Amino acid sequence: MNEKEYNERLNSLLRFSEQIVKIEDLDALLDQLLLEARRYTNSEAGSIYLVEHGKLRFAYVQNEKQTHLGSGKNRFLYNDITIPIDESSISGYAASRHEMLSIDDVYNIPDEAPYKFNTKFDEQTGYRTRNTLAVPLTTSNGALVGILQLINKGKDKNYCEEDQLYLRHFGLIASGAIDRARITRSVFTRMLQMAELRDPKETGAHVNRVGTYSIEIYQAWAEKRGVDEDEMRAFKGSFRIAAMLHDVGKVAISDKILKKPAKLTDDEFKVMQHHTTYGAGLFDQTSSLLDEMSRDVVLYHHEKWNGTGYPNGLKGDEIPLTARIVSMADVYDALISSRVYKSAWSEEDVDNFIREQSGTHFDPELVEIFFSIQDVIRAIRVKYQEAS
Ligand code: C2E
Ligand code: SIN
Ligand code: SIN
Ligand code: FE
Ligand code: FE
Repeated sequence: MNEKEYNERLNSLLRFSEQIVKIEDLDALLDQLLLEARRYTNSEAGSIYLVEHGKLRFAYVQNEKQTHLGSGKNRFLYNDITIPIDESSISGYAASRHEMLSIDDVYNIPDEAPYKFNTKFDEQTGYRTRNTLAVPLTTSNGALVGILQLINKGKDKNYCEEDQLYLRHFGLIASGAIDRARITRSVFTRMLQMAELRDPKETGAHVNRVGTYSIEIYQAWAEKRGVDEDEMRAFKGSFRIAAMLHDVGKVAISDKILKKPAKLTDDEFKVMQHHTTYGAGLFDQTSSLLDEMSRDVVLYHHEKWNGTGYPNGLKGDEIPLTARIVSMADVYDALISSRVYKSAWSEEDVDNFIREQSGTHFDPELVEIFFSIQDVIRAIRVKYQEAS
């Protein structure tokens, strides 16, 4: 490699590290990391294992030849696979030694090697692994975060010195980013758990449904607008969390109002409306994308398209897209479910209401999209039934 090439590689690595610090959602991050490592080494497939409870847990897979493996719910197919951190497997070996392990032919590993290739994946998927490179992901203070395993370098080549040099730098950047994303995720998960402790009857299933409806509506919107695939995936990861948090401000509302099994008085409703501003206050001092998105959703999910909503009476496009989507998902779910203060509406009544509110409460374009994915919406409702 000459100096010019070296500088170009270094630059692309720097650009990459700037780009990935912006990804806060763990799944979106793993997706991007794997894609970049595969692109650089020209690898057909790869997976990421994360260290959890002293073991390697299978976290993410991509396979160019079997795209179904890395998409939709199939990417969680191997979610329960764990590998011990010892020398008996390829990734376990790399993890326990904190060393890269490159193998040119996994079906011809010398007998004296301590590790064996686990043929189970190939058997289950019909895919044929040839060569592989297992890269430990260790942070700058030496902690092992996981293993990146690249599979089948293209054009019958094997993983070389130069790949390893690049991946040494890459591993440092990746492990730092994964560490951060895991911390972010646990902070947000705990916020949701706190809200659920406060209001266990309504929060859990409602929050899951609103999060899932929201990203499906977003995806249909994004496809219609031709939003780039990578951007869409990264956006969805953060958006699900933000949508789930929409009512986090209700933790500040007294039980007397929050759980009143009847219609609220005007004064009580005024207090209730503050759940938007109280909640948004949790994200005031911060500036990450996920924080900003959460703040938008929490603050504006009760704004209406025609400007008659609260807290600020924003109108039309002034309301962030995320909040416009969550608003529709939230009302849909509130109407179709029973609440302490109301019984469930029929599906027909709910559909009529949403249609009727197009252009008044809701963004007309989103209403149209909502009805175009009715089967998905119904499937989500069934999947996240109220735990009764
Ligand atoms: P929620 O129960 O999840 O309702 C979310 C939104 O769905 C409501 O926002 C409203 O836009 C819509 N929605 C819910 N039920 C009905 C209904 O029966 N008819 C119509 N037309 N729309 C409905 P909104 O009104 O800003 O209320 C925010 C939150 O305030 C509600 O969340 C709920 O927690 C509370 N709330 C509102 N009204 C009452 C009430 O009469 N009694 C009690 N206990 N809580 C209420
Ligand atoms: C291992 O690293 O041995 C498990 C995964 C694989 O066999 O490809
Ligand atoms: C809920 O009851 O959790 C949703 C209502 C709201 O958006 O305020
Ligand atoms: Fe709300
Ligand atoms: Fe809600």
